[in-house]
Amino acid sequence: MNIAVYPGSFDPITNGHLDIIERASKIFDKVIVACAINPSKKPLFTIEEKMDLIKEATKNIPNVEVSSFSGLLVDFCKEHEAKVAIKGLRALTDFEYEFQMALMNKRLAEDVETMFLMTRAEHSFISSSTVKDLVLFNASPEGLVPPCVIEPLKNKIAEKRKASNGQ
Ligand code: PNS
Repeated sequence: MNIAVYPGSFDPITNGHLDIIERASKIFDKVIVACAINPSKKPLFTIEEKMDLIKEATKNIPNVEVSSFSGLLVDFCKEHEAKVAIKGLRALTDFEYEFQMALMNKRLAEDVETMFLMTRAEHSFISSSTVKDLVLFNASPEGLVPPCVIEPLKNKIAEKRKASNGQ
C-alpha cells in the first residue's frame, strides 16, 4: 500500500490544505493528515479540536486518516509505513524553509521522500494565520476555510477577544 503523510499545524485547516489533501488522496492509497503537537507554538485550537475539524472537512474522502504526532516527522512516517511526506508549496518564501526541512528529513531518513504539491493560484495567499487575523478584525473567512470551520473559528476568536479584554 502506498501511504503518504501530510503534516502540519492546521490551526485551523484551510481550503488550501484541503485542496492538497484531495489531490494527494488521488495519488496515494492512503493519506494520513498528521497534526503536529507543538507546545511552543500557542495554537488557537486544541489538538483534539484541530483533528475534529480536519475529520469533518475530509469526511467525504474515504482514504484519508487523521492523526497527531509529536517529535520527528520522519519517525511518524516510519511508524505508519509511509514512504512519502507531502508538503504544499505556495510562494517562493515557502520554498527556502521547506527545502531546508526536506534536506534535514532526508538526512534523518533516507527512505522517506518529501513530495511537494504546488498550491492552486486561488489558494496561494491563504494561510491559517491570515485567516485568523481576518476573523479577529471582523472580516468573513468564507471561501478560505471549509464551511465546518467558520463557526468554530468565529467562536474561538470571540473567546480570545473576551479573555484579552478581561485582562
Ligand atoms: O503547518 P506548519 O506549521 O508549516 O507545519 C510544520 C511541521 C509540523 C510540518 C514541521 O514543523 C515538522 O515537521 N515538525 C516536526 C519536527 C520535525 O520533524 N522537524 C524536522 C527536522 S528538524
